[in-house]
Amino acid sequence: MRTQVAIIGGGPSGLLLSQILHVNGIESVVLEKHTEEYVLGRIRAGVLEQGLVDMLRAAEVGARMDQEGMIHNGFDISFSGNLHHINLKKLTGGKTVMVYGQTEVTRDLYKARRKMGGSVITSADNVRIHDLKTNSPYITFTRNGVEETLHCDYIAGCDGFHGVSRKSIPADVLKEYEKVYPFGWLGVLSETPPVSDELIYSHHERGFALCSMRNANLSRYYVQCSLEDKAESWSDQQFWDELKRRLPEQTADNLITGLSIEKSIAPLRSFVAEPLSYGRLFLAGDAGHIVPPTGAKGLNLAASDIHYLSSALIARYRDQDESLLNAYSETALKRIWKAMRFSWWMTTLLHKFPENKGFGDKIQQTELEYLFSSEAAQRSLAENYVGLPY
Ligand code: FAD
Ligand code: PHB
Repeated sequence: MRTQVAIIGGGPSGLLLSQILHVNGIESVVLEKHTEEYVLGRIRAGVLEQGLVDMLRAAEVGARMDQEGMIHNGFDISFSGNLHHINLKKLTGGKTVMVYGQTEVTRDLYKARRKMGGSVITSADNVRIHDLKTNSPYITFTRNGVEETLHCDYIAGCDGFHGVSRKSIPADVLKEYEKVYPFGWLGVLSETPPVSDELIYSHHERGFALCSMRNANLSRYYVQCSLEDKAESWSDQQFWDELKRRLPEQTADNLITGLSIEKSIAPLRSFVAEPLSYGRLFLAGDAGHIVPPTGAKGLNLAASDIHYLSSALIARYRDQDESLLNAYSETALKRIWKAMRFSWWMTTLLHKFPENKGFGDKIQQTELEYLFSSEAAQRSLAENYVGLPY
């Protein structure tokens, strides 16, 4: 097999890249380790920045999002038993976010790739990258037990944090920056109406909580939990009780509970690999970096990488101009580090840190009080939350 761009990973990064390249007349093949059902079974992000919304529309995959997605003009932060509203639209001169699940974005992308005759090979096992530093790299993988070879011009490593792409960059070239937080998020998806029209991020003595949603009858809730916790050992009742304790009384009273249809724990981590390119390989999305979910930046950062990478590949094939490809790592990393800072800041602001006794707790409370008293501080939060420019 031969293609122009081989894409490893059929998550949102890989599929979006494949779709944009297709719309611009560039061939690609996507190699995904799991089945489509498995990929669509993972419940992850829910908030899309305008930049990603615009990219999906331009890539001809925005129709269902425009029908079913919900535009949010702001969100609430709960602190000391009160809700404080952050009016994103007012603070940013009209910018908003779209609430539409990553599962749905990925479903739309799989559908579009199939409809347009895109080549997405699922259940591709044992993917290996070869001859990265030459002009004719290739990938080997097994499908149904048979080894196959995919020759290409470029390789996009969109295979998430645990993929093979980043590991193909020699250790003496790759520098990794990491911060692991001493807690996780226990998330529950339930077929119940959301407790509020907008998201609620809650800072509480017992730990952080978040009320989010997927649609009018599908809610997504999280509580900060211990890294030792197991999702199975939390009963639904225990989860609802703990969530209620971390919300203002009025909000807790309004919460409609029900059976959980998914329950899982995600650890919280900040991670960046540098550089994001090596020879003919370009890393994008979680393959190159991870943010804690507090700022809702993971999926959006994957999208901005794909914006830079697709623009660079288009310039290369359309105008024989390699300058954007050569600058990709540096360009993408500038925006990545800003989202790292914001996600770290929001995580630090809102979570209960076991080691934060005394001084640390006081500084955190003061930071929250300052935020609610200062429009300048709120504007900075809003500017980052809606997404910095590409
Ligand atoms: P992924 O979605 O990880 O996709 C990578 C794909 O590559 C996967 O389909 C995988 O199966 C495939 N793959 C892996 N290895 C190989 C291989 N060797 N060969 C071929 N294919 C391979 N962000 C938020 O903003 N809010 C959230 O609430 C949130 N929750 C999250 C919960 C979890 C458990 C995780 C892991 C992430 C969460 N994120 C969240 C982050 C967000 O979902 C990611 O940033 C986003 O999925 C990145 O997309 P991606 O395509 O780069 O990577
Ligand atoms: C979600 O809906 O899953 C979600 C929303 C906002 C976040 C994180 C997760 O900051």
